[in-house]
Amino acid sequence: MGKLQELQKLQNIIVSCSACKKVGSGKLVFGEGSPNAKVIFVGEAPGKKEAESGRPFIGRSGQLLRSIIRSIGLKEKDVYITSPVKYLPRKGTPSRQEIIHSHTHFVKQLEIIQPKIIVLLGKTAVYAILGVDIPVLKDHGKTYEKNGWKIFVTLHPAAVLRFPKYKSLFESDFKKIKKISKN
Ligand code: URA
Repeated sequence: MGKLQELQKLQNIIVSCSACKKVGSGKLVFGEGSPNAKVIFVGEAPGKKEAESGRPFIGRSGQLLRSIIRSIGLKEKDVYITSPVKYLPRKGTPSRQEIIHSHTHFVKQLEIIQPKIIVLLGKTAVYAILGVDIPVLKDHGKTYEKNGWKIFVTLHPAAVLRFPKYKSLFESDFKKIKKISKN
């Protein structure tokens, strides 16, 4: 089975997962990009716009993320963009329980894509993958290893929109991602 079919199969599993309940009319936001992506960007959970369309990162944070991806010479169609939590969270931000549950499906998604580098955008992505809380503002811009995965931690674009003083830090992290993705 090819990667695309494996991802489709996983998507069907999530659709019928009773623990991943959708809120209202919100659609599943599985992720988009290349199944052969070398770099995968991992956010938090879909917002309202994403849940309406079924596409990840299409709101304001998404515009910032997509433009910084392009600014380092990567093409959106060549990377993969997703979030660990696949439905709009009941309370806007995902609960610990939602994040912990998302791990089950999310690890399978990573195993199918097998990216060279996993970019964790903010603390939810960090918790979903590393299972620990780390002070992202202090420990951003670093590479971690887990289960043979190469992980890079940076801020969530929503934090950069909220606090514009973090923009230069975010940009310098993306310059590092550019370097790592070329190695
Ligand atoms: N924020 C996220 O973390 N993911 C999305 O898909 C949209 C906004």
